[in-house]
Amino acid sequence: MLTRWQRARFMPNVPLYPNQPKVTASKEHLELSRRASREGMVLLKNDKQVLPINSLSKLALFGKGVFDFVKGGGGSGDVTVEHVRNLYDGFTMREHPVDLFEPLCDYYRDEVEKQYAEGGKPGLLVEPEVPEELLEAAKAYTDTAIITISRFSGESWDRKVVYYDRQEEGEKIQSELSEKIFGESDYYLTANEQKMVRLVSESFEKVIVVLNVGGVVDTQWFAENDKISSVLLSWQGGMEGGLATADVLLGEISPCGKLADTFAKSLEDYPSTEGFHESPTYVNYSEDIYVGYRYFETLEGKADRVNYPFGYGLSYTTFNIEVKAANASENGISFDVEVTNTGALTGKEVVAVYVKAPQGRLKKASKSLVAFAKTKELAPNESQVITLSHSLYDMASYDDLGKVAKSAYVLEAGAYEFYIGNSVRDAKKAGYEYEVAEDVVIEQLTARCIPHELPSRMLSDGSFEELEQLPPVNYMENAIGWSQAALGANGPETRGLPWRNLDEKNTNILLEDVADGKDDLDALMAQLSDLDLAYLVSGQPNLGVADTFGWGNNEAFGIPSVMTADGPAGLRIRPERGVYTTAWPIATQLACTWDQNLIREVGVAAAEEVKENNLCVWLAPAMNIHRNPLCGRNFEYYSEDPFLTGKMAAAIIGGIQSMKVGATVKHFCCNNKETNRRNSDSRVSERALREIYLKGFEIAVKDADPWALMSSYNLVNGYRASENHELLEDILRGEWNFKGVVTSDWFTLGEHYKETLAGNDIKMGCGYPERLMMALEAGAIKRENLYRCAKRVLELILKLEA
Ligand code: BGC
Repeated sequence: MLTRWQRARFMPNVPLYPNQPKVTASKEHLELSRRASREGMVLLKNDKQVLPINSLSKLALFGKGVFDFVKGGGGSGDVTVEHVRNLYDGFTMREHPVDLFEPLCDYYRDEVEKQYAEGGKPGLLVEPEVPEELLEAAKAYTDTAIITISRFSGESWDRKVVYYDRQEEGEKIQSELSEKIFGESDYYLTANEQKMVRLVSESFEKVIVVLNVGGVVDTQWFAENDKISSVLLSWQGGMEGGLATADVLLGEISPCGKLADTFAKSLEDYPSTEGFHESPTYVNYSEDIYVGYRYFETLEGKADRVNYPFGYGLSYTTFNIEVKAANASENGISFDVEVTNTGALTGKEVVAVYVKAPQGRLKKASKSLVAFAKTKELAPNESQVITLSHSLYDMASYDDLGKVAKSAYVLEAGAYEFYIGNSVRDAKKAGYEYEVAEDVVIEQLTARCIPHELPSRMLSDGSFEELEQLPPVNYMENAIGWSQAALGANGPETRGLPWRNLDEKNTNILLEDVADGKDDLDALMAQLSDLDLAYLVSGQPNLGVADTFGWGNNEAFGIPSVMTADGPAGLRIRPERGVYTTAWPIATQLACTWDQNLIREVGVAAAEEVKENNLCVWLAPAMNIHRNPLCGRNFEYYSEDPFLTGKMAAAIIGGIQSMKVGATVKHFCCNNKETNRRNSDSRVSERALREIYLKGFEIAVKDADPWALMSSYNLVNGYRASENHELLEDILRGEWNFKGVVTSDWFTLGEHYKETLAGNDIKMGCGYPERLMMALEAGAIKRENLYRCAKRVLELILKLEA
């Protein structure tokens, strides 16, 4: 008979049913990873229909990226895998291998191996010179060349490297390599890469580029370059990425991914670039709500600064999108849209609805995504009618300064227009408008998290309005005296409390009794001492294969020790532990599928691996907004758009939690820069906070009820996110009705008792029970504060089927 929480308690890293085939990194999961990868690739350019490549063609593969093919980013978003398939594998490991000019492949393979042996890291290698004689021989062999460009970035450093003193060793090595190789930023091609591209594009009639990258990169070098016929944004596609890339290049499926970000003509075109590194201790979010396409599509003249707009993506076939009907009710608006495959090949299309709200007094983005869906696979001439619905709330704007109604979501009077299609640029005006006769308050809220030191913010015409300056917050205030010892990267030292008598006569009410309905949780908790509570709100030591510590751990009351694990690109188990798992495509690529059903499937499969390895809470999905391409961790996040972000997160959470594994949405919020992330203040207007940076989390919480949420390292308008009561209690719980556990990020610089008071339920990697006891003694917190947080931790454990 199975015991409750059997895996968590007794079976670290031992499969529960030894006779069943393992699901972790199984063939089925690898196939799903490959499928998700294919569906999230975006075809940026295909002049003269050079793609798909005929499988009988001969190819010359250029660029070290053919072998230095990157599966995903670094840090906690990394995954330990048995293999990573590169593009060479993609062309050769198939039933009918493609003819490649092998001497060139040998050259790049050797170069990459040599650089790895000398300390190079994947995605952080120097592009070798193309030898003249190999170029000539390749030209004689074929007229078709493929250039692969690969990139790598990771946690705790940005894509323009600026040093600070708290980096971990491995991350320091990576950022130093990145700076050495890419200089200013890896956004642009290096001089060596430029030279290689020039040589190849001058030498071959058909030139195809594969971008194996984790975020937005320069596209200017091919967008208007006739010599480069086709470009596939294959992303960092997980461990099967190379196979998936070849599948798309060879036309095994029509590309059906659409951009989840705007690709501008230059890095400087993003309004957030200028101030990105202005200070190591703060970032002014001066562009306000004009992030991504909301900026480029709204401000005059900025649309011309875009090479590939949000939602863009070519296919090998063509589609017609036609609005058939529009319906409005008090709940919202819905459109019936017919999509027809008008081309010669099978494919899928994405349909999105963008609202254009009247400018009014608040000023608005000229387009905002409010609904989307992806078709099924459509054969030539086949049609599908899709219904796309959204609420009035989705169209509303937040009035933080009281221009219409202070601290309320409002619909200003006027005509609301709708644009329907795939990209924000190609969407066509629907023949239906929603008229609002007079201003309407959709939801009255209370001002929260207001900025103190943000000088001004951008408006839709590009001008700036000045904001009131308030006295800075003293976030170092501390009732029990600040202590260096209690801050920083410590792990939980022991297995929790000192030993107790656990003999048969244990008459305590146990957690199992609560789970079985014999007693209630408050009755169990009445037995707990203050110290018991202080331990329950503190991270517990690793058991089994765990690397990120656990929750619970008080056997006298039958409370198991349940382990957490990273996310989000797959279950992360460190290489030393000897377990390989599945690396899924990066989150940005998953977002580019625009396919919630597929993302849910990935969630189910990933959670199966978490569970099989006896872990309970997965530290995924990550869902910060792509504010600027320079953020080193954008690969872990979905999009520049909060609606797409929220819906993708909701889909994966649904999948994860269907396995009774806890999902943890992170990092809440405004962790949009990695440099000095523990001590950088994100200064943002309340409107931008609510409409952009909180919106995705709001959607995820309301749609999918995640069991956990991770507060971020950074400060938000002067307060550490983990110590911010308005954020964690008033907005998250009060307004959105979040019922789960709030965990800190690992080793925040927050003071434990202040985090507890703010509603941050558990401090990770370890807590500081002794400082909590000091705070209790000093009257800075009460037992009821600890009790509330501890109760939520126990409620989460009760939901697990481990
Ligand atoms: C990251 C989190 C991660 C945690 C545990 C932190 O450094 O920011 O995303 O879940 O570590 O590894």
